[in-house]
Amino acid sequence: MKLFNKNSTVSEIIAADYNILPLLNRFGTGLGDGVRNVEAICAESGINPDFFLLVINIFIHKDYHPEIDTPHFAPDMIIDYLRKTHNYYIEYILPELDLLFRKMMSVCKENCSDLSLINKFYIQYKKELLDHIEDEEKRVFPYALQLTSGQQTPSGYRISRFEAEHSNVEEKLSDLRMLLIKNLGPGYDQNLCNEFFFSLARFEEDVTDHARLEDKILVPSVKAIERRYGSKPEEGNISSPARRAGRRNIRTSETSPGKNRKTGEKRGAITRREREIIRLVATGYSTKEIADILFISNHTVITHRKNITAKLGIRSIPGITVYAIIEGIINPDDIRSEDLI
Ligand SMILES: [Fe+2]
Ligand SMILES: [Fe+2]
Repeated sequence: MKLFNKNSTVSEIIAADYNILPLLNRFGTGLGDGVRNVEAICAESGINPDFFLLVINIFIHKDYHPEIDTPHFAPDMIIDYLRKTHNYYIEYILPELDLLFRKMMSVCKENCSDLSLINKFYIQYKKELLDHIEDEEKRVFPYALQLTSGQQTPSGYRISRFEAEHSNVEEKLSDLRMLLIKNLGPGYDQNLCNEFFFSLARFEEDVTDHARLEDKILVPSVKAIERRYGSKPEEGNISSPARRAGRRNIRTSETSPGKNRKTGEKRGAITRREREIIRLVATGYSTKEIADILFISNHTVITHRKNITAKLGIRSIPGITVYAIIEGIINPDDIRSEDLI
């Protein structure tokens, strides 16, 4: 892996992965700056070159995990970058996806109910993302900035609460991508669908890196300041940190050909039992309720859920619900809670 350094030029960075352009824009560079190198750009704009290189290298080299030996950066610099990213999502990406979805709907001739169901899922995702951003902008970032400037901070709040509650907003994007792959057949305008899909995939990559910067760079930098001020850990119950394993890759399982000798069901296909679990999950039953209904243990339900996720590539409950409706496993009227979709 050849990491970029202070002598690397903008054109070398763009040539490695042109999807990096929006990230470069957040640092005030991009197209037209090709011959200049990192050192010159950072010196002119007052950007810390180590932070610039960290962001660039993390994005381009998916196996680069520098968090362990990364120095702590000033939270205001990290937050400035994160805020620019939020603005980019709100002002550019989401309106672009909205527009593409509207176009897909307007030319849709068949199975429009499937597409409008996926649209509903997308709208729900968008609301969740905007709430997520608002919480960071109004609660987390102001706390970190106040702490950095030595001001009094809201009593009791610590960055460990953000660390524990920080949700995986990219999970539903991956589900949306899988729903599109499974359901947007030749009956739809393929060019529009492809365009939407590419935009979504780029967005997912950006959001995944954004969350990683928050978790692995912002949180440790703020914690270092808390320690300097001798802040005690937040009192009360903070749930365990959100699971971020496998953040980058959500793959469907490799399906081996042939059939299961016992059940006669195709390997890799959804089994009858899994279909039953999907039906119950999609209509709003909890793990415990499903275990009681099917006379199996919670552990067995969880194992089935994991297998379903591996086979479908869909993890969120609303994603499973959309899948179940489109596949005819449930009827929309069966859903017990409006929150599901
Ligand atoms: Fe964020
Ligand atoms: Fe976030």
